Amino acid sequence: MPAFSPVTLTTERLTLRSIEKSDADAHFAIFSDPAVMRYWSSVAWTDMAQAHAEVQRTLDAYADGSTLCLGVVLRATGEMVGVVTLYSIHHESRRCGLGYALAQAHWGKGYLGEAVATMLAHGFGELNLNRVEADVDPRNSASEKLLQRMGFQKEGYMPQRWIVNGEVGDTVFYGLLRSGWENR
Ligand SMILES: CC(C)(COP(=O)(O)OP(=O)(O)OC[C@H]1O[C@@H](n2cnc3c(N)ncnc32)[C@H](O)[C@@H]1OP(=O)(O)O)[C@@H](O)C(=O)NCCC(=O)NCCS
Repeated sequence: MPAFSPVTLTTERLTLRSIEKSDADAHFAIFSDPAVMRYWSSVAWTDMAQAHAEVQRTLDAYADGSTLCLGVVLRATGEMVGVVTLYSIHHESRRCGLGYALAQAHWGKGYLGEAVATMLAHGFGELNLNRVEADVDPRNSASEKLLQRMGFQKEGYMPQRWIVNGEVGDTVFYGLLRSGWENR
């Protein structure tokens, strides 16, 4: 699969940019918070080694073209406060999954709405995607609202799809077609 060249996307308040090795601390701050990880598919990180490993996976995935993870940076301060990811990119089907996380201190200000809309514009535009999918815990109402605002449609319900640290969780499965994005 083709490699991803470095990407920088700009919104009113944010820069979305490719991850660098020096972003491990920012990753750890986000993914070590149990509140951020409450409905994630794994438990909160406890070791900086997990952040270094994640950054390395991200760099490897740029090289093999399988996943595009961008850091969400506040333009006002230069602080990286989140990530938005197009993952499991299936090039022939022009399809991928969407993931995102934002540091708790910045929730409720519309930042991730701004970031996800920009990433989707890049995905359906530059990357010529036809379909984007999202897997959400039904208790994660902020995430469902965000997807619905982007035009995602509820496509299915999968009971007991996840078991994280012994806790069983369901999935609401969402999809957004290119036509849905263009007509939202
Ligand atoms: C989900 C998440 C990315 C939302 O980011 P955000 O920047 O706070 O999102 P927004 O400010 O654009 O808000 C999105 C919607 O959720 C609502 N919302 C925000 N916080 C909420 C909360 N705690 N409970 C319920 N709704 C909430 C907002 O009012 C908004 O609704 P609207 O579209 O009707 O206006 C953020 O809460 C997060 O990182 N959560 C932890 C990681 C996570 O769950 N990722 C998604 C996994 S599928």
